Amino acid sequence: MRRKTNRIDGRALAQAELARLKQELKSIGPIQLTTINVGRRADNLSYLKIKTRLGRELGIKVTNYQLPKSASVTKGLQLIERLNQDQAVQGILVQLPLPPTWPQEEIINRINPEKDVDCLHPVNFGRFSLTPQLDWSSENWSQRLLPPTARAVLTILKTINYSPRGRRAVVVGQGNLAGKPISLLLSQLGATVISANEFTPDLARETRRAEILVSATGQPKLIQGAMVSPGVIALDLGFSRIKGKIQGDLDFDSVALKANWITPVPGGVGPITVSSLFANLILLAKRQDTKERVNFRNNRHRLL
Ligand code: GUN
Repeated sequence: MRRKTNRIDGRALAQAELARLKQELKSIGPIQLTTINVGRRADNLSYLKIKTRLGRELGIKVTNYQLPKSASVTKGLQLIERLNQDQAVQGILVQLPLPPTWPQEEIINRINPEKDVDCLHPVNFGRFSLTPQLDWSSENWSQRLLPPTARAVLTILKTINYSPRGRRAVVVGQGNLAGKPISLLLSQLGATVISANEFTPDLARETRRAEILVSATGQPKLIQGAMVSPGVIALDLGFSRIKGKIQGDLDFDSVALKANWITPVPGGVGPITVSSLFANLILLAKRQDTKERVNFRNNRHRLL
């Protein structure tokens, strides 16, 4: 008999979060996200299009800086420096991957951590990594800067009311944007986490033990139904195209037969990752605003 699978509607969850953020923006005033993209990778351009559209729907100014692949790294660093100084810019996002000749680490390190919406700067990622166990029931996490993919996973788990504490989680993929931060988040929430990669000898043996399975490799249909156990919560952060058709890491139909909850691609974790990015932007804007007010007060104090 076919198990009842609950498909998570990422678009609806993202819309709900965006509606909440829109309310919050009313008390903040105009803010701006800037994005930097080097070269013209089709996937990067399409991600940026989505971010720009959603930002504008929220009433946020989104300014895209498009640099040719041939631009010098110095020019990129100078642009970041200028945006770091610009008081009208609250968030800076460098679209990844950069062309292979660009030193990704050096570029990311140059972003002012106070404007780092991706939570990729070592100061922000370091703070996130050093977080001790998170309290599932507390809402404090919403005031923390989290990598957007990790925040999206948390939003999904909260929505289905599934605490990872004491659960076995398997995260396939160890990239800085998704696999690594999600593994960290799940362990902070008390899960026992296996972080698998392309060298894992028998991936199916690991994935079959998962109560929460996250895949973030970009390998289309890597995870087949035979590789998961009944009742699994299967979250798909893969995004690839086969003959023009968008495809996730999960073989959706066969995994859905066994999963209790599953995210589709497109329309699953992706949209929530984008709404999480804007949640981060607003969090950073509020912090900057408080800091400016404190600085202003301090200066005034000095003048008096
Ligand atoms: N490339 C694909 N997704 C993302 C993202 O969320 N942020 C950045 N910086 N690059 C990406």
